[in-house]
Amino acid sequence: MALEDDMLGMLEQLEAGKKQATILLLSQLWDHHMDSYNHCVQVGLKSLEASRFLGYNGGQMFFAGLLHDIGKLKVDVKILDRHVPFGEEEYRIIQSHPAEGYAKVRPLFPFEAEVLLRHHKFCKRSYPEKFPEPVNPNGFDMNLIESYARLLGVIDYYSSMQRHDGYPYPEGNKMQKIMQERSGMDEIIRRLFDANILA
Ligand SMILES: [Fe+2]
Ligand SMILES: [Fe+2]
Repeated sequence: MALEDDMLGMLEQLEAGKKQATILLLSQLWDHHMDSYNHCVQVGLKSLEASRFLGYNGGQMFFAGLLHDIGKLKVDVKILDRHVPFGEEEYRIIQSHPAEGYAKVRPLFPFEAEVLLRHHKFCKRSYPEKFPEPVNPNGFDMNLIESYARLLGVIDYYSSMQRHDGYPYPEGNKMQKIMQERSGMDEIIRRLFDANILA
């Protein structure tokens, strides 16, 4: 089955209200910033593919990936369109997007919201600094959430590398670069490259 069919299949499995709310969020992102929308779809599908390979929950990783940057709805398009390093103020605004996304996604997908809230946690420049108490602290396996967030961080970085056509990332070994930017994931990154899921 083609991956695009996978996306439709995943949406079809949702109950009507959730499906409608998810499509609404995605269409808002489409209208706000097409490049971010395309990136979210790419990250969602790649997360699904990687999860199937690694034995993670594909549905949870798909929706965490698909909605991971939905908080960018609150970020000005001028900032989203910049392909040069951000100033401190712009960086502060950009850093708000995981928490903004968390607030939007939590009522629909509480587990996936915890994952996407942490998609920049394991980056070289980690954010956000503080995390709210999970909505369901006794029911959620926080180690699992953190492993999923680490994988999401890897796929997010990989997708960003494709997107900006090599800039601002230096030439060189892509796998090594992802390992430098996303700590503690060397073994999984190597397996994903060996299996051609990342290339
Ligand atoms: Fe992000
Ligand atoms: Fe992203």
